Amino acid sequence: MQSSKPPITIFNIILFMIISILQLTKPVCTLPICRNLCGGIAINYPFSIDDGCGAPQYRKMLNCSGDLFFLTPSGNYRVRSIDYEKQTMVIYDPSMSTCSTLQPHHDFILTEIQSVVIPPTSDTIFVLLNCSIDSPVLNHYRSLCFNFSGHSCDELYSSCTSFKLFHPLSGVYPGCCYTSYNTVKLMSMNILDCSHYTTVYNTDDLKGIGPLDWSYGIKLSYMVPNTGCDRCQRTGGTCGFDTETEVMLCVCGSSTNSTRECAGGIVTGGGQKRTPWVFFQVLVLFMGAYNLSI
Ligand SMILES: *[C@@H]1O[C@H](CO)[C@@H](O)[C@H](O)[C@H]1NC(C)=O
Ligand SMILES: *[C@@H]1O[C@H](CO)[C@@H](O)[C@H](O)[C@H]1NC(C)=O
Ligand SMILES: *[C@@H]1O[C@H](CO)[C@@H](O)[C@H](O)[C@H]1NC(C)=O
Ligand SMILES: *[C@@H]1O[C@H](CO)[C@@H](O)[C@H](O)[C@H]1NC(C)=O
Repeated sequence: MQSSKPPITIFNIILFMIISILQLTKPVCTLPICRNLCGGIAINYPFSIDDGCGAPQYRKMLNCSGDLFFLTPSGNYRVRSIDYEKQTMVIYDPSMSTCSTLQPHHDFILTEIQSVVIPPTSDTIFVLLNCSIDSPVLNHYRSLCFNFSGHSCDELYSSCTSFKLFHPLSGVYPGCCYTSYNTVKLMSMNILDCSHYTTVYNTDDLKGIGPLDWSYGIKLSYMVPNTGCDRCQRTGGTCGFDTETEVMLCVCGSSTNSTRECAGGIVTGGGQKRTPWVFFQVLVLFMGAYNLSI
């Protein structure tokens, strides 16, 4: 195998081939049918901000208007982060009270589907503040309240600038309750009869840490439907679904959708089927031919 041409030529040809492959496959891989970023947060399966992308269970749950929002019947909550490994999402209710701001209560309501597929985690607690003496959580439902990581409710009243407004009457702070999502799912804020609320997450890590340094927000834990999305992703596709039937689709490009995977899958859309694999095969053939000709 002696070549009179300098090796740089072979290198150039291979480089040219690689660049051609990248250019030819680019329209297939990067067309923004399914946007994968919003406000600096990666949007991956099962979530989506475009209809027909992601899992149908999470359809129309996120809104990208500059920042990423989680849509619920009680309002749009800003998404702080999504941890795809731990399968959690942290959202923030801008109209709730915190250690530094006092805002009137409002309900936190999820849809039926949301409360099944993406409920708040057990280490997210709802803090009901300034509850009237008739509040269910101070009477019949007293057992729904608990202390967490060594923290009592009175600590909030005494440490937070905002909650200091709730003065103790004859030495006793107004009613307060640390409780779980199930309580606010069961009873509306009006029934609970507490004038303010806040939420804290990662409560297991807050032992010995004061309320000023707690993480305020709601951590949700989501399920990933087992629909064989791995196979689609491995072949360069994005998992989506038919917007009419909600049957899973592997979105491969603007003109190509497949039922399972992009390369070698059953193509449902019309049009060309360009995949990196096809061009890899062409490259191998080309290089083989080139070697033989030397
Ligand atoms: C492929 O699926 C996406 C998302 O559901 C859709 O927007 C697009 O029109 C589909 N293309 C074809 C060719 O079916
Ligand atoms: C998305 O959020 C923006 C800002 O909160 C809002 O104006 C818009 O109506 C929302 N879209 C949907 C579909 O909820
Ligand atoms: C506390 O709740 C009572 C009703 O139970 C209400 O009248 C009062 O304004 C609330 N305090 C604050 C500071 O909002
Ligand atoms: C929480 O802690 C406070 C102060 O230590 C205590 O008085 C109260 O009984 C505790 N409440 C519960 C539900 O354990």
